[in-house]
Amino acid sequence: MFKICVIGAGYVGSTTAALFASLGNTVSAFEINEARLESLRAGNLPMFEPGLQGYLREGISKGRLEFTNDLSSAANDADFVFICVPTPSLEDGSADMSFVLQAARSLSGIVKAGAILITKSTVPVGSVSDLEREIARPDVHVVSNPEFLREGSAVFDFFNPDRIVIGSSNRTAAEKVAELYAKVQAPILITDSKSSELIKYASNSFLAIKLSFVNEIARLCDGLGANAEDVLNGFGLDSRIGSKFTRTGPGWGGSCFPKDTRALSALAKSFEINLQMVDAAIESNLNAKLHVIKILRRSLGGQLQGKRIAVWGLTFKAFTDDTRESPAIHICQLLLEQGCEVVSFDPQVREVSSRAIAIADSAIDCTHGADALLVLTEWPEFSEAIPSEVLESMAGDSVIDTRGVLDPANWRAAGANLRILGNSN
Ligand code: UGA
Repeated sequence: MFKICVIGAGYVGSTTAALFASLGNTVSAFEINEARLESLRAGNLPMFEPGLQGYLREGISKGRLEFTNDLSSAANDADFVFICVPTPSLEDGSADMSFVLQAARSLSGIVKAGAILITKSTVPVGSVSDLEREIARPDVHVVSNPEFLREGSAVFDFFNPDRIVIGSSNRTAAEKVAELYAKVQAPILITDSKSSELIKYASNSFLAIKLSFVNEIARLCDGLGANAEDVLNGFGLDSRIGSKFTRTGPGWGGSCFPKDTRALSALAKSFEINLQMVDAAIESNLNAKLHVIKILRRSLGGQLQGKRIAVWGLTFKAFTDDTRESPAIHICQLLLEQGCEVVSFDPQVREVSSRAIAIADSAIDCTHGADALLVLTEWPEFSEAIPSEVLESMAGDSVIDTRGVLDPANWRAAGANLRILGNSN
């Protein structure tokens, strides 16, 4: 087993740290945010990720996992150092590498000879070479090993990945990184570092393109009076297309797809190449949100100004507490701009940056006196709500389900004027 250091105990870092510790490695995670550090040391995950907290506590109690703000003690005897610091979008869409490069500089005088530095954060193509230059240690190799974990199912994805991608110009270093995954059953692809870095961006961008297309077909179904669920089911049954990632919704969001599509597009432009499909997917994703507003407006007889809208779901998808680039938040903002009053409820969100978005204590408190109910995230509690109770609490009867979580027969029987995205006629 190995000695692993993880730099940055955010979402990716704390998942990487806890799950590599569970495989029997000794892991020391470096984190500068005091509050997060204290929380992790106490065995409390500072975010919602199903199943992960158990691994965190097990690692700490078995003495295999520690969190520290002392970089030197975390990294000086590590065989592998995972860089898991954020790479947020800059104004031009490109990824901000300052945290990653700073980490490499700080590690230069600390790591032992033969240590392998691994980029886990999604980094621009060519970053491995930049890091090699930054760390300036010929006895230390830098390897790309992108993460493909989904928030909400990170534990499952860690142990059951579709593939493990490792990128390096040094075959021995890449094979050493592959040893870290010896207990995980998955094809391992070893490639050069640029290709590895590009696989990550290409994967996320392709998935975003697929979803933008799926949502466009759903919008067309709304126009035609066709049933998007049936259309997308029939389309996904073609094994060349595949049925995964064919659920319609209010648009894709989160900390990855928006940032990575922008970064890939910006990268291509720097080579005077236009990634038209990626750019179109980004633009189409805005239309997905505008379409939700259009259905709502139509359901309310053409008038949004002054209406009280209850919104169920603020996260960018269910099973996470993450609201970064959430389509739900964006739609709330569009509603506020239209002069609506917005009252929201999300089982995992107690505050959002916009104070104009009111937050209710429960799903039913949220709908009290509402002219319309808008379901934006597929939390199971929304499908379990009792339609008659919800409708009694509301002033109006308009219900818009953008995620297909409500049972249409039950809601219509209770008197809802229900419109389902992709089947809203
Ligand atoms: C995504 C990728 O799926 C992961 O493989 C990758 O590791 C991660 O980004 C990352 O780069 O770190 P994540 O952002 O957690 O994972 O979320 P997804 O489950 O991919 O969903 C992204 C968005 O697409 C959400 O807004 C979700 O609601 C939407 N979506 C997803 C749909 O609207 N329909 C679907 O069928 C699937």
